[in-house]
Amino acid sequence: MTVETLKTTAPLLFFDTGMGGLSILREAQKLLPTAPVIYAADYAGMPYGMKSEEELSTRIPLLLGRLVERFKPQLVTIACNTASTIALDVVRSVLDIPVVGTVPAVKPASLITKTGVIGLLGTRATIRQPYVDRLSSEFAADKKLLRFGAPDLVHAAESKLRGEKPDPEIIDAAVAGLSEQKHGEEIDTVILACTHFPLVQEELQKSFVRDIQFIDGSQGIARRIVDLTSDIMWPETPESGLFVTTGALDQLSPYHSTLKEFGLTNWEAL
Ligand code: DGL
Repeated sequence: MTVETLKTTAPLLFFDTGMGGLSILREAQKLLPTAPVIYAADYAGMPYGMKSEEELSTRIPLLLGRLVERFKPQLVTIACNTASTIALDVVRSVLDIPVVGTVPAVKPASLITKTGVIGLLGTRATIRQPYVDRLSSEFAADKKLLRFGAPDLVHAAESKLRGEKPDPEIIDAAVAGLSEQKHGEEIDTVILACTHFPLVQEELQKSFVRDIQFIDGSQGIARRIVDLTSDIMWPETPESGLFVTTGALDQLSPYHSTLKEFGLTNWEAL
């Protein structure tokens, strides 16, 4: 009788309210194509961008605590700017595994802007965070950083992943929210400070009319995940990933084909 060695590699856990974290997972999978993945979406709590700091700084650590206990990942990526700018420190203090956060890419944007005027699109909760003030004074003190909260873009991105056309009025309103500010016409670089927004980057670019350099943190985060897991022997072939939702499972049906593209072929309600 042959005794088979059971090889298990603890998964990487990605967390967002909805599908936005796929913009981070996409980059991570380019570097680690066979890493086992659990993607957790807090659909029951969506949108985070319209919630208070108090509510989120309780909800997020509790939920991540439950997820980590249940799925025993080796690393958590908070693939959500709103959650990271509010709760990253508290999550790190309660979990005993590495936690990678997603914060607005102010530093790289400031290195590439030529006009010195940078736009920042995020959720309403993200753009008012002291975390963003700190990034701005540390890395963009000699630049103009124009912020705009565009919560509806989250829904536009979600609808695109359901195979629908994102509402052009939502896209135009986000662009106008930046362009119509003082110096808005000089913006040459836009930070996508919500993980949902890279999913509608093409639509945003069209609406701007002039060429804009869009920047988000996804590639840097993917490299950070690689660094933090450099001692892991990943499986030779990809396994099927699991999508966990705090919402209703049937709400996921319109996203199934998108999720399959990411290898997320099992679905479960938390
Ligand atoms: N994807 C989340 C972020 O990066 C926000 C979505 C929401 O408002 O729930 O901020």
